[in-house]
Amino acid sequence: MCGIVGYVGPAVDETALDVVMEGLARLEYRGYDSAGVAVIDDDEIAIRKRSGKLANLRSEISAHPLHASSTAIGHTRWATHGGPTDNNAHPHLGGQDRKLALIHNGIIENFHRLKTSLVDAGQSFLSETDTEVAAHLVAMAYERTGDLTEAMREAVAQLEGAFTLLAIHADQPGVVVGARRNSPLVVGLGEGANYLGSDVAAFIGHTREAMEMGQDEIVTITPDSVSVIRFDGTPTEGKRYHVDWDAAAAEKGGYPSFMAKEIDEQPQAIGDTLLGRTDSEGRLVLDELRISEDSLREVDKIVIVACGTAWYSGLTAKYAIEHWTRIPCEVELAHEFRYRDPVVDEHTLVISVSQSGETMDTLMAVKHARELGALTISVCNTHGATIPRESDAVLYTHAGPEIAVASTKAFVAQITACYLLGLYLAQVRGVATGERVAEIMADLADIPAKVQTVLDRMDRVREIARFMADSRAVLFLGRHVGYPIALEGALKLKEIAYIHAEGFAAGELKHGPIALIEPGQPVFVVVPGPDTPHDLHSKVVSNIQEIRARGARTLVIAEDGDEAVVPFADEVIRVPAAPTLLMPLITIVPLQVFALELATAKGLDVDQPRNLAKSVTVE
Ligand code: F6R
Repeated sequence: MCGIVGYVGPAVDETALDVVMEGLARLEYRGYDSAGVAVIDDDEIAIRKRSGKLANLRSEISAHPLHASSTAIGHTRWATHGGPTDNNAHPHLGGQDRKLALIHNGIIENFHRLKTSLVDAGQSFLSETDTEVAAHLVAMAYERTGDLTEAMREAVAQLEGAFTLLAIHADQPGVVVGARRNSPLVVGLGEGANYLGSDVAAFIGHTREAMEMGQDEIVTITPDSVSVIRFDGTPTEGKRYHVDWDAAAAEKGGYPSFMAKEIDEQPQAIGDTLLGRTDSEGRLVLDELRISEDSLREVDKIVIVACGTAWYSGLTAKYAIEHWTRIPCEVELAHEFRYRDPVVDEHTLVISVSQSGETMDTLMAVKHARELGALTISVCNTHGATIPRESDAVLYTHAGPEIAVASTKAFVAQITACYLLGLYLAQVRGVATGERVAEIMADLADIPAKVQTVLDRMDRVREIARFMADSRAVLFLGRHVGYPIALEGALKLKEIAYIHAEGFAAGELKHGPIALIEPGQPVFVVVPGPDTPHDLHSKVVSNIQEIRARGARTLVIAEDGDEAVVPFADEVIRVPAAPTLLMPLITIVPLQVFALELATAKGLDVDQPRNLAKSVTVE
């Protein structure tokens, strides 16, 4: 959830504050309840912090400027313990002399007990946060040890829960120490300067060389050194890697919002995720999986675990995976999975889907699956994130950085990657012939151009959205693979336009939801193509008639040339035809554009919707 940045370097052209403020701007999508920075200024810690978005912190710094410094940390918050107030904003100061500043992402689960004993020992607290407890613990340990790394090590030994902590001490300028357990932290490797961040966006404007941090590790950066130890004090080394996107990819590039840009990037997200996946004989190759074909042949059940939009990508992929592999596939909300008693063993393949690779619920589900002996594969968009590291294997989606809180391009890339996995399983197990795999890969290769066609036709959808800005509720119907698309369309509208929206399986309508239909009720219907098996097309056309007869305003997403829907549609939104299982990659686009345009018409901040954060690293 929160975003954190740390920097040490020479105080020449660019001050530490500028670097950290730039990093916070790129990380603001992770939380925007408050923001704050701390710098070491002449053997003292100077802090500025403000509730609300980063703009408030900028005004605060303009009103009360900070001196140039070589050492700084910054934080953008998604509130957990304590409301989004100035006092609760990070950094927090620690110790009697308040010479230590600390920022935190995560939740310290035993903070109440720790706080009680600190209060009993005479320590006063200025905030309601769990973070301030950690600040005092590190500061007290520093008073004993005189070494920030050692102080951090002593303090983390007392903490339970999930945390990334960054600390600076006024007596140790030129040093930032970070620690991580179950929350993200990456190191940016510069020349004469080093960086810490919740993700690489924090420092992508300065370096594309990065280093992964492992679980339960402490990193100490100075301008020209990076050293890592485990919580038990033994030295270790992180894995270095080159980031394959640059600062421009994390900027709006002329678009009014990141969400608008990311919707437009979907053809490329799908294309890049498909890139280089076949060999010269047309066979699907997923080398990066590094799982033996034998273990894949032993799989007798698949469980997909994910949350939110990623969960809908799993629901979509289930149709294809079962159809192609003939292996039963369940799709489970990650936070439900581990609290029941799932039937999972060493023959179960658990596929986690996560854009950030840091979602706590999904991470815990993966750990649980591994404890039960399952084979775990992570479908992830973020290199080196915790979930892929905790999994047996990873298949990366190549959507590039997704900054808008509402997920769009990651969703289509996730479906694409899950399809690749399904096809690969079918190929390895001999369920699909080489010819069939090649045919499906060719159909998939056509999808980016079809998505582009939809994007080029969105003017009318934008107009409809603007007319509908005052809607109080919008319903979404779909069937077969259109059903998860209806759910995802509804989620997009809820999260960025704050409109009550529900998605239903069209077949379920008569079992209850049809009671919601009253004159004028807008209903989007995702219509299966006329060639969809089992005559599902006609069944959905009948559903449209049923709701129209009760006064619904029907907004119908239908394939080019599907004339059967015309008499019953108030609006027909045309999309190019594709094989049924691939249609979700196309039909989601108008629903994303609709939500974006409607939220914009309402004057809302589409990239940073209220109460949300991009990556949910708490339970
Ligand atoms: C919705 C959205 C969320 C995420 C969910 C999982 O637009 O973005 O529902 O999909 O929080 O996040 P990841 O994919 O990072 O695990």
